[in-house]
Amino acid sequence: MSTPEFAIAIMAAGKGTRLKSKRPKVLHEIGGRALLLHVIAAAETVVPANHIFCIIGHEGDRVRTAVASTGVQFVLQPEQRGTGHALQMLKADFELSGRPIPQHLLVLSGDVPLIRPETIAAVRDTHLREHAAMTILTAVPADPTGYGRVLRASADKPEVTSIVEQKSLRPDQLSAPEINSGIYCFETAALFARLDALTTNNAHGEFYLTDVAAMLVAEGKRVVAVTADSVDEVLGANTIAEMMHLDAAMRLATARRLMASGVTIFRPETCVIDAHVTVGPDTTIEPYVQLLGDTHIGSESRIRSYSVIQNCAIGNNVTVLNGCIFDDSEIADNANLGPYARLRPESRIGEGAHIGNFVETKKATVGRGTKAGHLSYLGDATIGDGVNIGAGTITCNYDGVHKHLTTIGDGAFIGSDSTLVAPVTIGAGAYIAAGSSITEDVPEGALALGRSRQTTKPGWVAVRKAAAEAKKSC
Ligand code: UD1
Ligand code: CA
Repeated sequence: MSTPEFAIAIMAAGKGTRLKSKRPKVLHEIGGRALLLHVIAAAETVVPANHIFCIIGHEGDRVRTAVASTGVQFVLQPEQRGTGHALQMLKADFELSGRPIPQHLLVLSGDVPLIRPETIAAVRDTHLREHAAMTILTAVPADPTGYGRVLRASADKPEVTSIVEQKSLRPDQLSAPEINSGIYCFETAALFARLDALTTNNAHGEFYLTDVAAMLVAEGKRVVAVTADSVDEVLGANTIAEMMHLDAAMRLATARRLMASGVTIFRPETCVIDAHVTVGPDTTIEPYVQLLGDTHIGSESRIRSYSVIQNCAIGNNVTVLNGCIFDDSEIADNANLGPYARLRPESRIGEGAHIGNFVETKKATVGRGTKAGHLSYLGDATIGDGVNIGAGTITCNYDGVHKHLTTIGDGAFIGSDSTLVAPVTIGAGAYIAAGSSITEDVPEGALALGRSRQTTKPGWVAVRKAAAEAKKSC
């Protein structure tokens, strides 16, 4: 193995005590994705995944499982004794495994998720240009409280003298405006040589990685700061409120990206759109819509208010009326759904089909131009093209033990309030009389009546009332 020029360490072992949550901090989500996955995605644009080292510890197995598919490496920090200790574990891992030590090490924080690839690259480039031992990414937010502060030798020079944590700030340093983002580039040998000298002699009783800055300066090494273009991208997520602030920032950025590509989003601040959703031009999204997960919508469609759509592929010129809930489903072009339609997983709605008011589908394929306008349950069903499903039709797919399939051929007509007891097949073009319970297959083109005959008794009401009156008066 040759010595890589750059590797990236992502510190992700902390518990996130300030979140007061059972879930490890780096698995909390913004924009519909775990914090750590956002950071890994940015890191991957700078170095290949096998040069990314996630330092995990608190609920380490859970974190590892959640991000394993990215192909990053893991280093265990069994006890979380501070950011300096996290890097001590990385150093020990390199030494133990005999892995070649990279010349430069970029360090990212698992809880600073909005970091952009360009900014990581800028830290790397400044580091090389300045021949620095340590380069620190900084920002000047409106309120620096809570962050470590970067102190420069002189305000207009890149040289840093030290990083001071919030709790260690002297009164005259409390207003120091420049914050440490927790993102750095090190000359790896210079960093590794100083890690063992860190102490826990501080307000938190932890090994602070930030102390390395002053140590390097004391030994005449060059430590420089580079300021991020935007403050938002270096903000940390230590509390739920901070996390939701980042979530809103990320979603607004997603909405802006979609609008820039020709999507109309009314009141974008009311919509919840995950980071990887795509929408085609001339589609309109009304207020209070949620588009989540792996959702992709074509062009010239309209999603009306209060619909929640997760992991769905929706075609062009589709209308989704108000209050629909769709999961893991596909909808072809020109379909029309809702209001209040519910597509449960594996529903496939064909071109130009209509799934109307209070219709629920699950594992159902609905053919082209088929209509189910009102109050139906279509589960485990394969329904052909041009079928008419009358109001209140139910596929009885469950016998208490197993699920069974209902198959309906092209052009069939299912009268209102029919129950189709699966397994059952209705042939193409067959008619089912309204109110039928269908328990046997119906051949193509047949009419099936599955209900008892109506009896009508003329004058019955008057006779009954007279009898009741007579009883009362005696
Ligand atoms: C840290 C910096 C602070 C900076 C801020 C930016 C230190 C001492 N302070 O503070 O100067 O302004 O980030 O957001 O570094 N972690 C581990 N192992 C540990 C402890 C933490 O992997 O033992 C990880 C955490 O999971 C987190 C990151 O390191 O992703 C930062 O830790 P955190 O405790 O949030 O540090 P801050 O107090 O925010
Ligand atoms: Ca933090």
